[in-house]
Amino acid sequence: MNANQQVTISAELRRRFAEAHRVLVLTGAGVSAESGVPTFRGGGQSAVWKGMPFDKISSAGMLERNLAEVWEWFNYRRGALEKIGPNQAHLALAQWQTRFENFTLVTQNVDGLHQRAGSRDVIELHGNIWRARCLSCSAKFDLQDTEPDSSGVLICPDCGNHLRPDVVLFGEMLPAGAFERAATMAETSDLCFVIGTSALVYPAAGLPEIARAAGAYTVEVNPERTPLSDMCNEVIEGKAGAVLPLFEI
Ligand code: APR
Repeated sequence: MNANQQVTISAELRRRFAEAHRVLVLTGAGVSAESGVPTFRGGGQSAVWKGMPFDKISSAGMLERNLAEVWEWFNYRRGALEKIGPNQAHLALAQWQTRFENFTLVTQNVDGLHQRAGSRDVIELHGNIWRARCLSCSAKFDLQDTEPDSSGVLICPDCGNHLRPDVVLFGEMLPAGAFERAATMAETSDLCFVIGTSALVYPAAGLPEIARAAGAYTVEVNPERTPLSDMCNEVIEGKAGAVLPLFEI
């Protein structure tokens, strides 16, 4: 996409947007890029920490080896998030939830920016960086409701064991039921948007494929093409913050 290229919404898509009842949206890191959150792969600058690639520091193996170091990495990421806010893409999607009879927002992002923009019932496939989960009893807590022990690792208010970030790390399973709920909505959607994801990580990237196979009109919004582009009915090569506000609600 060249930077000066004007993005337009096709008449077909405007019609389908106006007539849709059941809409599913899948977002990835690209939807937060215009807020200043680094993406993992394409478009923005990739994140590494203390010389470690993100998929090493954000791995189940690292959790076993050095929980305190994993917390330090997530504290660093949260520190960066505290200074930024939702962008036009997040705000547009928050408005869409009241526009359609049935609207499902599924995200791979752990930054909580959809919720800060006003989105409710967001299906978080990869967890949330503002929550912690007990390594022993699996209870979940908002971070502000927790205290660290002398080693700086947060303690479970219920059972006293160590807490870990409530984020899906590499090599781990998705939260129980999250993908299944999203897949059920994908199977019955009449319009599906896939926004700001490189579509390299499964099972998340499988959701638009499920929607398309079930007959949903499937639209990708991304400045770059992805492995999903060819299967979509339409590809809008543009930035989410510029494209999504173009849809009248
Ligand atoms: N608007 C829309 N898309 C954008 C924008 C933008 N302003 N800027 C970048 N993009 C696109 C990039 O072109 C790229 O295709 O967003 C995508 C970001 O891809 P990734 O960094 O791979 O992020 P994502 O697809 O969300 O990664 C999936 O991988 O690392 C794991 O758990 C992590 O949830 C993450 C998962």
